[in-house]
Amino acid sequence: MSGVTTGEGGAKPTPTAAELDEMSPEELARLATELDDVVVQHNAPKFPIPGTRAEKRAERAVAFWFGLSAIAALAFVVAFIAWPHEYRPPSDPGYTMYSLYTPAVGITFGLAVLSLGVGVITYVRKFFPEEVSVQQRHDGRSDEVARPVMAQLASAGKDTTIARRSLIKRSAGAAAGLFGIGLGIAAIGPLIRNPWKDGPDSPLWVTGWKSTNGETVYLRADTGELDDIRRVRPEDMEPGSMQTVFPFRESERGNEEALLHAQKASDAPVMLIRLRPGTKVVKRAGQENFNYGDYYAFSKICTHLGCPTSLYQAQDNRILCPCHQSQFLATEYARPVFGPATRPLPQLPITVDEQGYFVALSDFHEAVGPAFWERRS
Ligand code: FES
Repeated sequence: MSGVTTGEGGAKPTPTAAELDEMSPEELARLATELDDVVVQHNAPKFPIPGTRAEKRAERAVAFWFGLSAIAALAFVVAFIAWPHEYRPPSDPGYTMYSLYTPAVGITFGLAVLSLGVGVITYVRKFFPEEVSVQQRHDGRSDEVARPVMAQLASAGKDTTIARRSLIKRSAGAAAGLFGIGLGIAAIGPLIRNPWKDGPDSPLWVTGWKSTNGETVYLRADTGELDDIRRVRPEDMEPGSMQTVFPFRESERGNEEALLHAQKASDAPVMLIRLRPGTKVVKRAGQENFNYGDYYAFSKICTHLGCPTSLYQAQDNRILCPCHQSQFLATEYARPVFGPATRPLPQLPITVDEQGYFVALSDFHEAVGPAFWERRS
């Protein structure tokens, strides 16, 4: 080390700025360790003789993990873009591929992360020098001269011999690069398709309760069997009871895919509630004719974060969401009275047709689901 002077009491060397400029990275590293009261007791490279078979084996082991990570990252990108992910019913020949979409994306992504991590750990274990250092504990931040500690890090990087290991550098670069591309695609991919391109008929603005070509939409009970279609009539329900219903059109009868879609759509479930006779009710302005007598139909999708509000408490006419305990008053257009939800459950306008079955008068008049949708207004 050149031109180092001693500081106060001779305890620490305090080189001038000009002297610091002249120092090599190794000298700066040594100075930084001394200023931090670090004493290196033992430092030995893992492979003191370069080019041995053991060293090459270790290098190949690290490159294997990085290479596996690169392949998995590439497979993730391909699966994310090209794997068929559009819904297919179980009877469709493409169902198996569709049902494997999530596992394919998850497994390739997980493998890419895992092998990248294992590669880094393997590299550190196999090539970082064995070192034992002792540092005296002291309070406060390092003094001005001790800041070139970054130089020590540069020196430490050199000790790992990464500079001369092109196989590891190339495989690690491929793994990190492909993994980064995969993350970028995963982040940007969902933004490519415009969900609003159909205007007011965009899928996010309409639900399965919307009538197409004037066809009647019935309220169908959930029997657990797709083919067992039971349309609901007023006399099917006791006063103070509730049941979950889904949309049904006669044109869907026998069409497994259409029936399944009507039941599985996340915005389809509706709570049909029969209040006790004489229950005092407050109706929402503009929705005075949405109910049929004592029967009220509300979306089952919580306006907080979209959980199913599955519980109806007949004693006080509250609808409860089990996720974060929001409560809605069925007698006051399902407005929230407790918990984090801020918006009433949308009410479905219903009536009874000439055959005595419940039917929807129209789709919901507002967006179903979390309060996010309020942002539009
Ligand atoms: Fe219902 Fe949070 S999702 S209270």
